[in-house]
Amino acid sequence: VIVDSSLRADAIARRRADSLSRGAIDHFFHYQGARQAQLWLDVHRAHAPRFSDPAFDRPYREIAALAASLAPGAEVVALGPGAGSKERFVLEALAAGGPAPRYLPIDASVELALLSADAAAGVAGETVPIAGDLELVRDLRASPGWAPDRRRIVTAFGLSPNAEPSRFFPPLTALLGPDDLLLVSANLAPLALEDDRDGYARACAAIAAQYDNAETLRWLGQVLADWGIAGRLGPLRFEQQTIEGINGFVASANWLADATFAWEGAEFTARGGAPLRVFFSLRYTPARFEAMLAGYGLEPLERAVVATGEEAVWIVRRRR
Ligand SMILES: C[S@@+](CC[C@H](N)C(=O)[O-])C[C@H]1O[C@@H](n2cnc3c(N)ncnc32)[C@H](O)[C@@H]1O
Repeated sequence: VIVDSSLRADAIARRRADSLSRGAIDHFFHYQGARQAQLWLDVHRAHAPRFSDPAFDRPYREIAALAASLAPGAEVVALGPGAGSKERFVLEALAAGGPAPRYLPIDASVELALLSADAAAGVAGETVPIAGDLELVRDLRASPGWAPDRRRIVTAFGLSPNAEPSRFFPPLTALLGPDDLLLVSANLAPLALEDDRDGYARACAAIAAQYDNAETLRWLGQVLADWGIAGRLGPLRFEQQTIEGINGFVASANWLADATFAWEGAEFTARGGAPLRVFFSLRYTPARFEAMLAGYGLEPLERAVVATGEEAVWIVRRRR
């Protein structure tokens, strides 16, 4: 595994400092270290509908087959692949019609970068797992291993829920060459009514239990324990909030009292009662996600939605 400089101790210290000063913990930290990766896998097993319902694989398989027919011979760049099972469908589809594809899984977690490479065994060709922050995507095109003439399928599965749209989409648009494809998923609010304010809010309310549960709170609370600040904060609570026009579930805890303490080489002052956001997860609707894509210069070519209406995956290209 190649470990990018974004995982160096000084870079991580800077992120920890920024997290507290912005009042929002960077999602990056929820996957750092073997323990966090394990707790996240526990949440996934207990609450991600995918693990109990094979119907969730179907749209990923469909989209993988379509993408392989649109971009035969492409190499695969996986952003935040986690356990890498969805990317395996893409690699399998490419390998079925040609040589085993070159594979670059990039994940903040060393454990998950390695796990995603393992998951590609037997279907990927040369595999170069990279542990690093996704910010490195901005420099990827200029890096020595990036052959400009190679066609790519970039995957970004399960990432759009945990990023503000204005931070998530621009680097993806910048990464794509004219013939490249992006496969991107979104978690959806399963609409039972119209996609208006009321219908959207009700669809979100119907899935609140996916967030507010013991496994998720344990996973998220572990970061506060690791950082030695859990005792200074009240309990973690989930509530619904809108972020850049998209409804989401936000977990936060409030500082119990005014406090000043040393933090990453400087003094940090917490105000009693002020919230610290620990996590958020956005739920789009298909129309809202496609409007976002269009707003960032991306054009959806195909879409597949899981039967429950809770997740969808798109094939996207850069608008020409
Ligand atoms: C919600 S999981 C999604 C995993 C997988 N793609 C899936 O759909 O099941 C988010 C993944 O992105 C990685 N990740 C989160 N923040 C990151 C960052 N800033 N840079 C690189 N990877 C990151 C995590 O380690 C984790 O593997």
